[in-house]
Amino acid sequence: MRPRFDTELKECDVTPEADFINRRRLMAGAAGLLASGLIGTPLLARSRYSTTAKPNSLKDITTYNNFYEFGTGKSDPARYAGALTIKPWSIKVDGLVDKPGTYGFEDLIAGLPTEERIYRFRCVEAWSMVVPWTGFQLSDLLKKVGVQSGARFVAFETLVRPSEMPGQNRALLDWPYREGLRLDEAMHPLTMIATGLYGKPLPKQNGAPLRLVVPWKYGFKSIKSIVRISLTDRMPQTTWNMQNPREYGFYSNVNPTVDHPRWSQASERPLGGGLFSKRVPTRMFNGYEKEVAGLYKGMNLKKLF
Ligand code: MTE
Repeated sequence: MRPRFDTELKECDVTPEADFINRRRLMAGAAGLLASGLIGTPLLARSRYSTTAKPNSLKDITTYNNFYEFGTGKSDPARYAGALTIKPWSIKVDGLVDKPGTYGFEDLIAGLPTEERIYRFRCVEAWSMVVPWTGFQLSDLLKKVGVQSGARFVAFETLVRPSEMPGQNRALLDWPYREGLRLDEAMHPLTMIATGLYGKPLPKQNGAPLRLVVPWKYGFKSIKSIVRISLTDRMPQTTWNMQNPREYGFYSNVNPTVDHPRWSQASERPLGGGLFSKRVPTRMFNGYEKEVAGLYKGMNLKKLF
């Protein structure tokens, strides 16, 4: 990952709280309701998993992105992702599952309970934001397809379509982009598949139509535009670990006490504060320590990167 600190950051507005609350009142909040075109929008209860931190503006979240399939610049995804065809979209589910198959996006998510969750998001490049996702727990999807007893990991892959993803015409990474989780991490209630943002379907630059969100891990674990989910008995290969194993590990839990070999992870720069925004301390597991520390009991946290 080549961080481009600050150089491309513009003074961005932050959504006033009142606007956001009004928007929440107006929106269906569930991707399913939106997709079906239902109107009549109840006020969404704040998920018990949501942070009370103020979300970044839609502009911040959709114009400063990492999505190397569209290029390495922070503004490349917003510029080029519009050309991506996301209808139809299918996802192959394979490996140690009871119901393997190639599912249409709508079929795969049908019946899964969606909600809005406001999560902190911390990139390994040391910037952060707060995002109001909509989506469902990955655990619900895994239960739907039936995890077999030998499964220990979940592997994910992003679409490969160089005709619509200009970054894939270059050997920037070993395509497809790959990620993985241990099964207990994947089943943790905080682990989400996001299908929406600010109550609307997920913008393409943020990984439409579906992407992973694992809020206690560095952002690169949150793989976008997923086309394959495999249950395996072996730790899967992951893109950034393949690219640079000295700098990126499988676990990649946010940890302010373990620096990246080239920069400190002790603090972060919240997006949206303008060029002179103050850095704030990074929290262990990105502030989700109480919820997830138990997953790593007895493991050397220094080695988890
Ligand atoms: N997924 C794919 N397929 N390709 C990518 O380049 N970048 C990752 C992650 N998921 C990436 C990806 C990184 S480094 C980060 S920080 C987040 O997406 C950024 O998500 P955002 O653009 O929605 O903020």
